[in-house]
Amino acid sequence: MYALPSNLQHVAIIMDGNGRWAQQRQLPRLEGHRQGSLVAEKIVKYAAQRDIPYITLYAFSTENWSRSAEEIRGIFALLGFFIDTKIKSLAQYNIKVQVCGAINKLSVDLQKKLEQVVQKTQHNTGTVVNLAINYGGKQDIQQACLALQQQGVVWEHENDIEPFLFTKNIPAVDILLRTGGHYRLSNFLLWQSAYAELFFLSVLWPDFTQKHLDAVIMEFQQRVRNYGGVST
Ligand code: FPP
Repeated sequence: MYALPSNLQHVAIIMDGNGRWAQQRQLPRLEGHRQGSLVAEKIVKYAAQRDIPYITLYAFSTENWSRSAEEIRGIFALLGFFIDTKIKSLAQYNIKVQVCGAINKLSVDLQKKLEQVVQKTQHNTGTVVNLAINYGGKQDIQQACLALQQQGVVWEHENDIEPFLFTKNIPAVDILLRTGGHYRLSNFLLWQSAYAELFFLSVLWPDFTQKHLDAVIMEFQQRVRNYGGVST
């Protein structure tokens, strides 16, 4: 197994293509999301095995509310099921779960499940799995500005703002990876991805495997990151 690059802290994934995967098989869209959730589980466990420090999964965006009530209910049910049935194995993998997004808009039941899994895994020391649920990058910055204002914080530097983002305590994104063939960020971790390396893969999320992740990490290793400077 290849060594993980030392400058790789945070992988963030837009898991796109579930609907098309299902359509191609004449299946309901929700079946695509169900397959997608199984892939999410595999990738999270693989990230833990590889000691990737942080992985963020875009499970539901602030814009996803425009989908049918049935699809929205289905995605939330899958998230609830994932939490209910995977807590034990997450513990075995030493995974710590965190959540980012406006979760106060979710059902009380799902909020409770999320709070429970965060609490139960809080002392684990392995990979942090950050679930982005009802998350929007613009809304994240907006709520941080509001909190700064309400708490009367006088801020001068970006470091003064970061503790107010949903992702406080999580480092900036190194790899931003989107499956499904579209070349856009869809309001995901806008602030946090300022210097992320971007990877757009045509593979649909339910067909994504650890081999795809390995290939992305290997290419990441080849990229020179200048952070606005000049390569030497
Ligand atoms: C985007 O594909 C996917 C989503 C909006 C939902 C992702 C949710 C899951 C994988 C299920 C739960 C997650 C976890 C972590 C257990 P799309 O529907 O936009 O696909 P399309 O572009 O092909 O229509």
